[in-house]
Amino acid sequence: MSKEISHILDTVLERVRPTLDEREKVRMIIEKITRVAKEVSSEFGIHFEARVLGSIAKDTWISGDKDIDFFILFPKKIPVQELKEQGLMIAKKIAEKMHGTYKEKYAEHPYIEAHISGYTIDIVPAYLIKYGERPITATDRTTLHTIYINNKLSSEQKDQVRILKQFMKGIEVYGAEIKVGGFSGYLCELLIAFYGSFLDVLKASRFWRPWRTVIDIEEYYDTRDYRRILKKFASPLVVIDPVDKNRNVAAAVSIKSFSIFKFASKRFLAFPSLKFFFPPEERPLSRAEYLSKIAKRGTCILGLRLQITPISPDILWGQIFRTLKSLKKFLERRGFRVISEGAWSDEESEVIFLVEVDKEKLIPLEKHMGPPVGSEEEDNFIRKYLENTRVLSGPVIENRRWYVYRLRERVEVEEIIRSHINEISFGKDLSKHISSLTFGKNEEVFDFSLKNSYRKYLRKWLDKKYSWMT
Ligand code: UTP
Ligand code: MN
Repeated sequence: MSKEISHILDTVLERVRPTLDEREKVRMIIEKITRVAKEVSSEFGIHFEARVLGSIAKDTWISGDKDIDFFILFPKKIPVQELKEQGLMIAKKIAEKMHGTYKEKYAEHPYIEAHISGYTIDIVPAYLIKYGERPITATDRTTLHTIYINNKLSSEQKDQVRILKQFMKGIEVYGAEIKVGGFSGYLCELLIAFYGSFLDVLKASRFWRPWRTVIDIEEYYDTRDYRRILKKFASPLVVIDPVDKNRNVAAAVSIKSFSIFKFASKRFLAFPSLKFFFPPEERPLSRAEYLSKIAKRGTCILGLRLQITPISPDILWGQIFRTLKSLKKFLERRGFRVISEGAWSDEESEVIFLVEVDKEKLIPLEKHMGPPVGSEEEDNFIRKYLENTRVLSGPVIENRRWYVYRLRERVEVEEIIRSHINEISFGKDLSKHISSLTFGKNEEVFDFSLKNSYRKYLRKWLDKKYSWMT
C-alpha cells in the first residue's frame, strides 16, 4: 500500500470509527429500550425476545449515524397475522414508554420508527429463528446476518467495512433503497468477508463484469452452475447470501451503481483522495448561475411539479422513476428529443420532474403516415384527408404507402403534455395528486421549489459531474 493511500485510510478511519462517548450513548439507550421491552413483555404477558441487530450489533456502524435497529423476536409457533398485529402493538408501547415520537412504516411488513433522544430507532417485529433454520419473513434473516458477520469478521475487518461504507456513501452508491439502487450495509460486510480488506474489494472490482459476476462465499454452488445462477438472479452483481442460498444480497445494485463503483475504485487506486469519502458539500444553485447555464445549452428545460402526501420512499421513488420513463417515451413519440431527465422530491410534500428537450415547439407541419396502397383502410384515409383544411400536401403515395403533410393541432410542449396527460402513467399514488400538477419552462423551473435541497439537485442535474473526479 502506498504511503499516500495508507494516510488517507487512517484519516477516514478516524472519522468513521465511533468514539467512546458515542458508543456509551448508544449503549445506554439500548440498555434502556431493552429494559422497557422486558417490562412491556411481562405487562402484556406476551413472550418475545428483544435484541439490537443491524450495524450496531455487528459493530460496523459509522460514527455520526443515529440509527438503531431494534428487533422484537417472536416464537415461530405464532401465526404471521398475529406477529404483525401484536408486534406493532408492542412496538408502539415500547416507543411510548421511551417517551419518543413514532410513526408506522412499511417494509415487507409494518414496523415502528421511533425518535428517541436524537436517535431513530426502528422497532421491527420478526420471528426468532436459529442458525440454519429457514426464515419465515424477510426480516427474520437479520438475526442470522448478525450472527454470520460477527463470526466471520475480525475487528480490523469491521473497520474495513466502515471505510468501504463511507466510500460508497461518498460516491453515492450506498443503500439498497429504490432511490439509490446501491450497496446495502450487509453487502459491504460480505464484500469485506470475501476479499479481505477495503483495498482488496476495490482491486477486485476491476474484474467484475456486469451480469457475469457471482460471489458465493459459502460455496453453495458449483462454479459450473454459475451460468444458471446468473440467469436465475438476472442482476449485474450476484452475491449469494451465506444464510440463504436462494437470495441475492446484491439484488438492489443497479447497473449504474455497479458501474460507478467500478470506475470510482479504479480512479481511487490511481488518484487516491479523501474526496471519495467526504465530497465537498454541494452548494445550492443561484438564479444567476442557473440562467447562465441554461442559456448556453439552448435547450428547453421543462418542469412538472406535483404536490404529494407522504408515502414510503421506496414506493414513491418507484413511481417517480416509472413516470420519468413514461414521460420520456411520450415526448419522443410526439417528436421531441429528450436529452436528459431527472426528478427531485423532499419525500414529504413535493415532487419535481425535470426534462430537457431539444425544443419548446414542434414545427407546424407534420408528416403523417397512412395505410399501404391497396389496403382496406386506403379509402377511408383518402376520404378523411382529401378535402381537409389542415392538410398542406397530399394525400400522396411514397413507395408503397399513403402520406399526408398536415398542420399539427398543437405544437407547444406543455400543451401537448396537458392534452394527453392520461397517456403518461404517473403510478397509483402520484395519480391521486394529478390535479395539483403545474408546469414550468426554463427560468420558471428555478422557482419550482424554494428548498435548498432542490437547488442543490438542480446543480447536480445540470453539471452531471462527479466531485471525486476533479
Ligand atoms: P440496515 O439497512 O439498517 O443495515 O438494515 P445495517 O447493516 O444496519 O447498515 P447501516 O450501517 O445501518 O447502513 C438492518 C439489517 O436488516 C437486514 C440486514 O441484515 C441488515 O443488517 N436487511 C436490511 C436485509 O436483509 N435486507 C435489506 O434490504 C435491508
Ligand atoms: Mn442499521
